[in-house]
Amino acid sequence: MSNSDSIGFFDSGVGGLTIWKEVVKLLPMENTIYLADSLNAPYGEKSPEEVLDLCFRSVDFLISKGAKLIVVACNTATTQAIGKMRSTYSIPFIGIEPAVKPAALKSKTKCIGVLATNGTIESDHFNRTKEHYSNDVKVVTQVGEGLVRAIEDGEIGTVQLRTILSKHLQVLMSEPIDYIVLGCTHYPLLIPMIRDIVGDSIQLIDPGPSIALQTQRMLNGHGISNSNLSMGRHHLFSSGNVDVLESIVKNTLKVKASNISYSSLYQSE
Ligand code: DGL
Repeated sequence: MSNSDSIGFFDSGVGGLTIWKEVVKLLPMENTIYLADSLNAPYGEKSPEEVLDLCFRSVDFLISKGAKLIVVACNTATTQAIGKMRSTYSIPFIGIEPAVKPAALKSKTKCIGVLATNGTIESDHFNRTKEHYSNDVKVVTQVGEGLVRAIEDGEIGTVQLRTILSKHLQVLMSEPIDYIVLGCTHYPLLIPMIRDIVGDSIQLIDPGPSIALQTQRMLNGHGISNSNLSMGRHHLFSSGNVDVLESIVKNTLKVKASNISYSSLYQSE
């Protein structure tokens, strides 16, 4: 392995790009490979066994492309499979789980909302975290049913998506919450819409910036940071619709750079 190898990312689709963007911003010299497994989204509706199998396939693909570290840019995959991935492969992994801790510690109303997929909310991993804080804060959960699918279908900004989102947020807002934890990496793509619906008095927790810092620490800790002084190259793959992937990067995340290439997973094999 060489330090100029890539940081690998995968998600059930385009959601993990919200993490990828923050990592690229913080570590612009690093090369990256991103796999959007959009063909199999949403993971939140699949059994833990199916999610595990899909995770192994994504990891094998990223390693075959030379990943030196993998960011599991998906809460559902992390909560259900990170332990098995860590014990199977020798490269380091970074996982993402709903950021209950910072919200719980900062909440003044002692009541926080978590919007996540069914797979995450039902997982033992998440329930242990929720239980840990349950003496101090009330954690109100809501499954963001329909949101991942709508984002994957390229529906950001549509009235239909806003209607679904608003219904989920009203459930959380019926309690005295002052924080909403975005417990699925697709949801930060909806921040302008969420802000519009919930107003300014509720804080949103987006895990991207803290995962980027954790990635930096882990690269340094393993001595595998890229010491090249040229800008990194980014290769983004989709097992589904590459146009949606490209549009999210350029139009939603507003990342426009010539060092990014886009491929269909199947054309590349
Ligand atoms: N972005 C994934 C997550 O963070 C979405 C999971 C899904 O496909 O349901 O959980």
